[in-house]
Amino acid sequence: MKKTISVLLAVVLLFSLAACGSAAQTQPAPQQTQESVTETAEPHPTEEALEQEPAVTAEVSEESGSEILVLFFSRTGEQYDVGVIEKGNTAIVAEIIAEATGADLYEVLPADDHYPTTYKELTDVGLQEQREGARPAYAGELPDFENYDTIFIGAPVWWGDWPMIMYTVFESTPLSGKTLIPFSTHAGSGLSGFDRSLAAAYPECTIVEGLAIAGTDAQNNPDKVRVTVTSWLSELGL
Ligand SMILES: Cc1cc2nc3c(=O)[nH]c(=O)nc-3n(C[C@H](O)[C@H](O)[C@H](O)COP(=O)(O)O)c2cc1C
Repeated sequence: MKKTISVLLAVVLLFSLAACGSAAQTQPAPQQTQESVTETAEPHPTEEALEQEPAVTAEVSEESGSEILVLFFSRTGEQYDVGVIEKGNTAIVAEIIAEATGADLYEVLPADDHYPTTYKELTDVGLQEQREGARPAYAGELPDFENYDTIFIGAPVWWGDWPMIMYTVFESTPLSGKTLIPFSTHAGSGLSGFDRSLAAAYPECTIVEGLAIAGTDAQNNPDKVRVTVTSWLSELGL
């Protein structure tokens, strides 16, 4: 448990440090106390799962002709260090991946869009959901996953983890035997264990090494992100 808390604190510290330089441009970044880390332990992968070598591989199998889906969650409105945005940071990265791989795109939307469009309020709601282990409902039907062998799954890092709505998706969506590739956008926390929590949620899937893109780069420098994504995809053999 100590190790888990240390890892989470390190992630949050990194995020807080990254936030320092830009606080004047937007609301301060989320601050997480040790108490809130402890309280939020429940919805996360078990300690055993985190301590195990994650079942993460570096390459997609040679069947790169398989059908590919990019599934993502992303928010518009006021976001960290980018002002008020009309296309979410993760949505931008998702589109770049889909364009480069010829994949289909699917955006996970909340059934009841209770998420505020101001950054501070949104961070409060995200933290509250994490503390409660909430499973916010998504809107509509997810795509027919039968059609896909390889699924990129992306989201913004929220408080060092996937937004809780993604756990709603994971828990309601059997994906046995598929290849899953996580990606995040973030403000300093990187991939934040997205790959490990995905491996814990889907022990019967192949989890491929993920990609973390700074949200500010996605929003302000998509050409640079396109280069990074292309090179990552080529390392994966896609
Ligand atoms: C509720 C909330 C919590 C966040 N927590 C973190 C965090 O723990 N670490 C981090 O690096 N960024 C964090 N951020 C910043 C977002 O991950 C980042 O701005 C992301 O690019 C937003 O992507 P989107 O526009 O696709 O939603 C948080 C943002 C929100 C709204």
